[in-house]
Amino acid sequence: MTLIPRLVTLVGFALLACGTHAAEPAAALTLPSTLKDAVGHRFHIGAALGTDLIKGEDPRGEQLLATHFNSITPGNVMKWEYIQPKLDQFAFDLADRFVALGQRDRMQLIGHTLMWHSQTPDWVFQNADGSEISREELLQRLRAHIAAVVGRYKGKVAGWDVVNEAIRDNDGTLRTDKPWYRILGEEAIFAAFEAAHQADPDAELYYNDYSLENPVKRAGVLKLVQAIRARGLRIDAVGSQGHWGLDWPTIGAIEASFNDFTNAGFKVMITELDVTMLPRPMNYFGAEISTLFESAPELDPYRAGLPEDKQAELARRYAEIFAVFAKHSHNLTRVTFWGTTDRSSWLNNFPIRGRTDYPLLWDREGEPKPALRAVIEVLRDAPAP
Ligand code: XIL
Repeated sequence: MTLIPRLVTLVGFALLACGTHAAEPAAALTLPSTLKDAVGHRFHIGAALGTDLIKGEDPRGEQLLATHFNSITPGNVMKWEYIQPKLDQFAFDLADRFVALGQRDRMQLIGHTLMWHSQTPDWVFQNADGSEISREELLQRLRAHIAAVVGRYKGKVAGWDVVNEAIRDNDGTLRTDKPWYRILGEEAIFAAFEAAHQADPDAELYYNDYSLENPVKRAGVLKLVQAIRARGLRIDAVGSQGHWGLDWPTIGAIEASFNDFTNAGFKVMITELDVTMLPRPMNYFGAEISTLFESAPELDPYRAGLPEDKQAELARRYAEIFAVFAKHSHNLTRVTFWGTTDRSSWLNNFPIRGRTDYPLLWDREGEPKPALRAVIEVLRDAPAP
């Protein structure tokens, strides 16, 4: 890894600090810390990597990563449709590059994800003639997939999102409308955890989902992870994705979620953090990637840039979020952002395609936003764990 600068020059911050107008030349402001130095030993601090970064086509993102983060998750390249696009034909190239990049920079490597209802090809659930495969055949495919993927990165990937989003938002029950669970029921989940543990007994294993601040969904997830543990299977933590907004969830709801899982004996991780600045149509706050809406000009209000007052609101929101993370850091093992710069965020295309969102700590040009300074300051001022 390249030398980590102890002093980070953040020109963008000077504007805000002096209350100057953006048109005036900015004096460089020196902050005493990178993001990861500010976090210290409280928890790992991570980012999801887009495919362009993994291919070496995002030098700014790569630099931010090496300077500010110590954990990485692949945004896409380890998902089933990428890594086993056709039956028994694995495409490991990009996943291998992700792993090599992380090893070069001594990152904690997170695998995402082994079993999910999205980004999984239809053939997985079909016979050659298109009919639905048997229970036994599907279990066999699941086990073979996990053995191949986890086995390949044994000793390199520290932890796996074994199962992603198995629980419904509205009532906390298993998504039995999805083929994994329609065909296999809860056994799909137990089999996935078992296969992952067999393939790498030292790897941490996680259940990952969104909207865990919703008590009904959380109760369903809690029941599921307790069932996994009751089977005697390894499960190290619950991943809470953290696709949040300015006003939702409340800090109280975030704490309630931490408390419920940690009281039940599970560590928690924030695995996909971002804060959308854009309106959500029909009040949809979930992260189910197939839920898409039509665009309209009023739903994409900041195409020309984020107004200063909104920038400040985002900074305040991130400050309160990281204050609560610092408070719970004895039970929180990792905080991962879903991307590095606003340009790289999936929220530009979800739940409406082609909008301009501002959910992360660096802007489209890779310059630090006031929210980054706010996070660093709140961590520096918070009591040490
Ligand atoms: C997203 C990726 O960021 C996008 O590039 C892709 O088109 C869709 O999936 N929850 C998850 C992630 O667990 O895998 C999703 O990632 C975002 C929601």
